[in-house]
Amino acid sequence: MTMQLQCHDLHAGYGERAVVRGLNLQVAAGEIVSLFGPNGAGKTTCLLTLAGALPAISGRVEMFGALNTDPMHLRVRAGLGFITDERSLIFSLSARDNLRLRGGSVADALSYFPELEPHLDRPAALLSGGQQQMLAVARALAAKPRLLLADELSLGLAPMMTARLLKALRAAADDGLAILLVEQHVSQALAISDRATVLGQGGVVIEGEASALRERLTEIEASYLTGAG
Ligand SMILES: Nc1ncnc2c1ncn2[C@@H]1O[C@H](COP(=O)(O)OP(=O)(O)OP(=O)(O)O)[C@@H](O)[C@H]1O
Ligand SMILES: [Mg+2]
Repeated sequence: MTMQLQCHDLHAGYGERAVVRGLNLQVAAGEIVSLFGPNGAGKTTCLLTLAGALPAISGRVEMFGALNTDPMHLRVRAGLGFITDERSLIFSLSARDNLRLRGGSVADALSYFPELEPHLDRPAALLSGGQQQMLAVARALAAKPRLLLADELSLGLAPMMTARLLKALRAAADDGLAILLVEQHVSQALAISDRATVLGQGGVVIEGEASALRERLTEIEASYLTGAG
């Protein structure tokens, strides 16, 4: 089992102020690990820190089997993909040209989302929200990362589209991709995850195998009410 991402006692935050303290995570090739927590718990902060876009306050991040302190663009070159909560498409360009932006092939992108094919020549601005997000995910997957960090893919989308996107991520993981997923739809995310960690105020409040956490949905949701920052 190839470990693609590991962090040990990570403290992440802004300046001296730690938002998340003592995070330990491991994501192996072929695995989806979900990171849950209420608004403001520090999920995005964790992803930014793990990606190298934000300096860690303390702790250790290993990527692709070695300690990594590189800036994000070098990690991307080494096989990191990052889908942020903004879709980061260029709306004036066609869907096809957006797919080409990250160097992946259009055919590979379509293998994950064949339903995008009829829309390839339309400007990204004219696609629906769901189609735009499929485009963003297709582009990230077509770049053939070894590790993907995904932040709130389903923001503003209908449950069926959320399920469609998560299914594509599961297929990519089954092909060997390691995925760290931040998702507000806990139940849907657990259905495709191997393990999950729930952040509360300042740190981890629940973690475990997804199969066990599926039985603890009420507890996870309750932690959002007491754990909010
Ligand atoms: N650039 C920043 N500078 C200082 N504090 C920040 C910055 N960005 C976020 N924060 C603070 O860090 C904390 C965690 O924010 P973060 O965005 O990581 O939470 P989140 O779990 O992703 O929330 P959401 O579910 O709303 O996306 C919040 O208190 C937020 O106000
Ligand atoms: Mg966030």
